[in-house]
Amino acid sequence: MKDLFGNAILDYQNGNYTEDIITSTSISDEDVLPLPYLFRDFEDMPKLEKKALKLAKGLILDVGCGAGSHSLYLQEKGFKVKAIDISKGATEVSKQRGVINAVERGILDESGTFDTILLLMNGTGIFQQMSMVSKHLLHLKNLLKTNGQILIDSSDIKYMFEDKDGGFWIDTNANYYGELDYFLSYKGEKEVPMKWLYLDFNTLLTACISVGLKCELVLEGEHFDYLARITN
Ligand SMILES: C[S@@+](CC[C@H](N)C(=O)[O-])C[C@H]1O[C@@H](n2cnc3c(N)ncnc32)[C@H](O)[C@@H]1O
Repeated sequence: MKDLFGNAILDYQNGNYTEDIITSTSISDEDVLPLPYLFRDFEDMPKLEKKALKLAKGLILDVGCGAGSHSLYLQEKGFKVKAIDISKGATEVSKQRGVINAVERGILDESGTFDTILLLMNGTGIFQQMSMVSKHLLHLKNLLKTNGQILIDSSDIKYMFEDKDGGFWIDTNANYYGELDYFLSYKGEKEVPMKWLYLDFNTLLTACISVGLKCELVLEGEHFDYLARITN
């Protein structure tokens, strides 16, 4: 990984904001990810994220913290938060912005235990592909304290396969439709392609049950997105 995502948010943090991140996927054209969005405050967050922050309790792990926006809000509310991200730049920016405990670390290398684990802005993306979901859920399960909770958001992207007549062109012989190749570029440079997983609620629910976890739908968003709460 070149960490172009981290470079971009470092540029924004250091006052060198000249352009945004460009993303695309195996099923969609180029789209702009505005850097200021990664630095959003509570008022500018989608309602699913606001709800997750309101439900957070106890010792909190913010997985894939990015620029640290959720961690900062929770810290200001008096919570003790650990923020982790595989991006060196993201971790650095989170620290610069005031996140007290920000660590450059992938979720599978984390070993603490927490009352709340947050995975926000399509949190299931971090699982990368269907074959990795159980492994991640089992690991997250081990990171939960008694009565702990995982708050995770995602979207059912089936609508992206809908044609003009309302039919769906999903290839039933192919992998799960939410398993995408994800491409990112910044300032003309291309990041190494990665896998990014969108999970519909029922598929997440089934995966949770298969590893002995409970999963409830907390809230649905405006565009096939939802927030789920996973518990032991
Ligand atoms: C879509 S961004 C969301 C950032 C932040 N949560 C937000 O809402 O603004 C996903 C983040 O997850 C991080 N990430 C990806 N895979 C990860 C992993 N296995 N462990 C920890 N962080 C990861 C990326 O570096 C990126 O910062």
